[in-house]
Amino acid sequence: MTATIIDGKAFAAKVRGQVAEHVQRLKDEHGLTPGLAVVLVGEDPASQVYVRSKGKQTVEVGMNSYEHKLPADTSEADLLALIERLNADPAVNGILVQLPLPKHLNSDLVINAIDPAKDVDGFHISNVGLLGTGQKAMVPCTPLGCLMMLRDHHGSLSGMNAVVIGRSNIVGKPMAQLLLGDSCTVTIAHSRTRDLPEVVRRADIVIAAVGRPEMVHGDWIKPGATVIDVGINRIEGRNGLFGDCDFDSCAEVAGAITPVPGGVGPMTIACLLANTVTATCRANGLAEPQGLTA
Ligand code: GUN
Repeated sequence: MTATIIDGKAFAAKVRGQVAEHVQRLKDEHGLTPGLAVVLVGEDPASQVYVRSKGKQTVEVGMNSYEHKLPADTSEADLLALIERLNADPAVNGILVQLPLPKHLNSDLVINAIDPAKDVDGFHISNVGLLGTGQKAMVPCTPLGCLMMLRDHHGSLSGMNAVVIGRSNIVGKPMAQLLLGDSCTVTIAHSRTRDLPEVVRRADIVIAAVGRPEMVHGDWIKPGATVIDVGINRIEGRNGLFGDCDFDSCAEVAGAITPVPGGVGPMTIACLLANTVTATCRANGLAEPQGLTA
């Protein structure tokens, strides 16, 4: 079998188109322009690339982008004061603090200072709790993007066996909650899981989010399974980006697979934009965009 390639780049373009339509409607019918504030502390090169890309795409869909670049030695008090200002600013509907933060800053404290209604990353403890109890939450962008692609490919996910490899707060744990919400039977595997290949072989859906290049091999995959590769890795001596799955061997066995690059990656920012529209609608008591939320 050779897998269907799930084109995340094309899917993300479609989501951005839907977001742009909603933004236009918010402007025309309600005089509202959604605004997204992105806070970057320090000069991490990868973070700078992400933040630039977020700002560009925010403007492209018709929203306002507010970038706050702070020096690496910014004090916690100054960062918290900025977040307070953004929480109180009616022009700001979404706030994202780019992670990782410099070591002297307490990420949990900073994230939990964001107004949960503006927490478009879905990292605030209130949103984590709302998602975990099946209530209306802001949902982390990368898992939301994976869920959208899975729903688009399969329709219903009900009753499917899903194995999430990786237990991070950003991807693994919220991904498992979303799959549970769609009535999958969910296993969270991680670095201490015994006989990982055997666990993965039971899965109708595999989500690889470990950050180890090409760890998942084709002989771990149940024939016909859907493989969602969240990894974005570099390998010394080889050009380009590599996922957590060995693409060629997995694509021989899987029914469908996301490539790296061009799979999950583009969906993350598209979902950030979608979350900003959702937050704007909720804050103003308006109907939420269909198909852009969990
Ligand atoms: N750093 C890597 N991924 C993310 C993300 O999804 N959100 C934020 N805020 N920082 C990140």
